[in-house]
Amino acid sequence: MLGSPDAPDASHVPNGIGPTGGPLRPCVELTGVERHYRLGDEVVRALDGVDLSVRYGEHVAVVGISGSGKSTLLQILGCIESPTAGRYRLDGADVGELSESRLAEVRNRRIGFVFQSFHLLPRATATRNVELPLVYAGVAPRERRARALEALSEVGLSDRARHHPEQLSGGQRQRVAIARALVTDPALLLADEPTGNLDARTGAEVLDLFDSLRSPERALIMVTHDSALARRAQRLVALRGGRVAYDGDPAGCPEDLLHA
Ligand SMILES: Nc1ncnc2c1ncn2[C@@H]1O[C@H](COP(=O)(O)OP(=O)(O)OP(=O)(O)O)[C@@H](O)[C@H]1O
Ligand SMILES: [Mg+2]
Repeated sequence: MLGSPDAPDASHVPNGIGPTGGPLRPCVELTGVERHYRLGDEVVRALDGVDLSVRYGEHVAVVGISGSGKSTLLQILGCIESPTAGRYRLDGADVGELSESRLAEVRNRRIGFVFQSFHLLPRATATRNVELPLVYAGVAPRERRARALEALSEVGLSDRARHHPEQLSGGQRQRVAIARALVTDPALLLADEPTGNLDARTGAEVLDLFDSLRSPERALIMVTHDSALARRAQRLVALRGGRVAYDGDPAGCPEDLLHA
């Protein structure tokens, strides 16, 4: 477990050596990131100067009241939106300097996204849903089928591979969505309220699954509204008014920042 960005505990990585042989290195680094939206004459500062660094192997929960900028932060991290100001480095590369085609490749191959409402294709089987990012990445059919089945097995759904979303429970649908996010072996896994549509017990199971998927080659950043779930994170980032109001051990986070 990594307790905080300043005190990494590399117990899950032999000798603290990261996947490429270097020390545990930052996966994402945001410096002074702002995101403004113009609404008529008004400018909404959805993000207003965010500094955040998350290393490979870390699991971070993001909390904050509605409108504090959580989804905007995830969209920037997911290269879906660009910052109005500031710098975003993903795996050492300045995202602002990437061409459109390189950016599309990064989105497809380096980032996995899990949403509250699953976003599965209703007419496609679980396997087909999981395979899709590999279709876009141009992976050959036989290999992508094998990788999709492997990802489904990782989330404990081997026996549901041929089911359609409507034939699955909410928790199982979210597992399929997690398998789809993982199938490209991304460096960064982003989840925006992944338990928001699930009952408490199923939500806790999905969090257990995220925990079990911890890898020194990946970072997880998850937005949650649920303060109990946020408390069990190893590192908590609380946003207020588009800024980081707290970053550290969940136990030390002021109660008012935790509640939506
Ligand atoms: N496309 C947009 N155009 C204009 N304003 C936007 C847009 N997207 C977000 N905002 C504004 O930016 C602020 C942050 O929004 P964001 O969706 O990031 O909040 P959030 O913390 O995810 O909230 P919630 O908990 O309700 O999901 C809000 O005031 C929102 O109204
Ligand atoms: Mg949101």
